[in-house]
Amino acid sequence: MKKIEISKICLSEEEIGAAVDVMRSGKLRQGEQCEAFEREFAQKVGAEYAVTSANGTAALHLAYLSFLQPGDEVLVPSFTFIATGSIVTMTGGRPVFCDIDPETLLIDLKDAEKRLTKRTRAISPVHLFGNPVDFTAIEDFARSHGLKVVWDAAQAHGATWRGRDVGSADDFVAYSFYPSKNMFVGEGGITCTNSRESYEKMYYMRSHGQTGKYCHTMLGLNYRMTDVEAAIGRKQLGRLDAMLAERRKNADALTRGLASVRGIRLQKTTPYGEHAWHQFCVSVDPADFGCGRDILAAKLKEKGIASGVHYPRGLHQQPIFEQLYGPQELPVTEAVAANILAIPVHHGLSPEDTGRIVEAVRECRI
Ligand SMILES: Cc1ncc(COP(=O)(O)O)c(C=O)c1O
Repeated sequence: MKKIEISKICLSEEEIGAAVDVMRSGKLRQGEQCEAFEREFAQKVGAEYAVTSANGTAALHLAYLSFLQPGDEVLVPSFTFIATGSIVTMTGGRPVFCDIDPETLLIDLKDAEKRLTKRTRAISPVHLFGNPVDFTAIEDFARSHGLKVVWDAAQAHGATWRGRDVGSADDFVAYSFYPSKNMFVGEGGITCTNSRESYEKMYYMRSHGQTGKYCHTMLGLNYRMTDVEAAIGRKQLGRLDAMLAERRKNADALTRGLASVRGIRLQKTTPYGEHAWHQFCVSVDPADFGCGRDILAAKLKEKGIASGVHYPRGLHQQPIFEQLYGPQELPVTEAVAANILAIPVHHGLSPEDTGRIVEAVRECRI
């Protein structure tokens, strides 16, 4: 029985060739390839500027380093990967965890509004699993409360809302190129912005705040990407649309096959959004489906189908955040975390594979 993996991480011959060319040239550090990747990525997503970095966490960190002050608060959805929240703490701020919408699984602005204080400085919407957050709602919210927006697009390469690429938004858009993502170069990140001032700060802070040879006019870190990864990224940008088209086709097949299964709930795509399907997640209602998420995962494994739990708890339930900020209850996040399961949707699946996944999930219903 062929195993169906949860992601497909396979560089193309062209990407491998581009990486080898850089290795042969000996120019391994950040250089021409990174510069070209920044230009091409910014152009692709419709941003003015882009700064490559070592990973998606660094891409978020550079954004915060450019404006956040100690004690500032940032509104963050609780249902996301640790980095969305931890990087705020690591920059001296405080993430304020908000609940999510039960259908789109994205930040619930009504809940966020209740958590505004005099110290709130920014909001960090996450395009979770590739589902684009409604730009207008966030932009209106941010404008009316004087907030910066740090979009976490780590999972959303290619997602659009009303035809606008998520990368074109103000103020900062941070992506990851970790191997499981829609674009994958090894380790890598990029932060897009439309502000020249933010771009320059992030540009210098990425490399020790060096504005001239051994002249440091601000403090920074070494968050540089290497040209090997940038060369892979440049080539991969050329096949992003094709990979996304595969993901979307697979998601359509899974949706058609599973939407009517009792006890299974699918993530609702934001109205006017085009989902990038980094993950295809189902929420399992044990009462209606006959078994819970963990049993479904075990049964799928027996049938050779991998799955993953993203995420088993909200950030407010992470031991370190409970220790730092005390206990908190966010009912929607907690209910979703208890029941959610990601099933394969990646660009390497065939129609037979998606058919097998649908059948397998249906067979597991008791
Ligand atoms: C939502 C989200 N934010 C941030 C990151 C951090 O990216 P990286 O792992 O490249 O540091 C990830 C990666 O898993 C992520 O999924």
